[in-house]
Amino acid sequence: MIIKKIVTYRPSFTVRILAGLISFMVIIAACMVTGVADLTQALTTRDTAYRSRLIEEGARVYMDQCARCHGVEGKGIEGQGPSLSSSNFFNNRVKEVGWNSTLETYIAAVTKSGIPLKSSPMWEVTHPPFLDRFGGPLREDQIDNVVRFIMNWRQAPIDTADVVEAPKPGEAFAPMPTPVPLTAAQEEGKNLFLSNGCNACHAIRGVANGAIGPSLNKLYEDALKWISSEEYKASQGKATTPEEYIRESIVNPQAFIVPECPQGACPAGVMPANYADTIPAADLDKLIDYLSTLGRPTQ
Ligand code: HEC
Ligand code: HEC
Repeated sequence: MIIKKIVTYRPSFTVRILAGLISFMVIIAACMVTGVADLTQALTTRDTAYRSRLIEEGARVYMDQCARCHGVEGKGIEGQGPSLSSSNFFNNRVKEVGWNSTLETYIAAVTKSGIPLKSSPMWEVTHPPFLDRFGGPLREDQIDNVVRFIMNWRQAPIDTADVVEAPKPGEAFAPMPTPVPLTAAQEEGKNLFLSNGCNACHAIRGVANGAIGPSLNKLYEDALKWISSEEYKASQGKATTPEEYIRESIVNPQAFIVPECPQGACPAGVMPANYADTIPAADLDKLIDYLSTLGRPTQ
């Protein structure tokens, strides 16, 4: 009965026009909704792409101008510059220095005008001004991009033990630990470090600025850490004391490749492997004696 009614149903002319109009409007509305959604989607994608391009440009500027002092990953380099990628930098630095605005404006301000006075004797260099108007090499927009690049680290701050934090104001001039005076043999060892060209690749505070191999500032402490590490046990290294470790690092640098250098992962085969042939045994002893004083706890 109902089926028959549906089959034989003939809508009036007005109903048919109305139905046609309604479906037309529904289709148009549907097109508009998807169209707008597509457009928003396209704009968001473009916006993200644009933002990433600016960050990428900032990365280039950073590697060119900042990495040699602040490190490729922004972990800082001893004596050269503090970390720009640690949680402390992102969460506390603005408050620590009493800056009354955002971290972005702090980074931009320091980068543009530099820091003419060292805030601490721990720095061997001063921060140069980077803005072209102040005699630096960068335009305003390049500095904006470098700020974007640094702020992007906020998503994954680095907090490893080797991060070089900027000292808190007030702590900055706390006296540096007095170095233990070197013996005559150790003084000779220090000269051998320079005369053999080790300084081209290694940094020691106040002695050398090389940045290809690891900094040797805390070599004794690092050696202790390495010989008990899993990485070392898995390597061909055979040292059981820091002195043995230091000797092995010099005469057989391939035995254990230190994982991290200032420019990223340490390259294998870069440190010359023939020092056992070129440095007389007695000199080698003095060199190792000197290097063992770096980072060795005083009684
Ligand atoms: C010649 C080495 C050197 C270069 C190159 C350098 N910096 Fe620095 N930077 C320093 C030193 C040293 C300090 C700490 C100075 C002080 O506190 O007295 C510092 C501090 C900073 C700070 C403040 C950090 C804090 O925790 O307060 C920022 C931000 C900064 N640098 C950004 C940059 C940027 C961006 C570049 C590249 C455009 C750059 N620096 C290039 C040496 C350098
Ligand atoms: C051409 C660059 C270069 C020169 C020159 C060089 N080194 Fe190295 N050195 C490296 C690199 C890279 C490493 C890390 C890779 C490895 O472990 O072999 C390293 C590692 C070391 C280590 C281990 C450091 C650690 O943290 O465990 C010591 C110690 C060392 N070198 C001492 C010396 C001494 C002493 C001289 C000079 C007689 C010297 N190096 C010359 C590049 C160099």
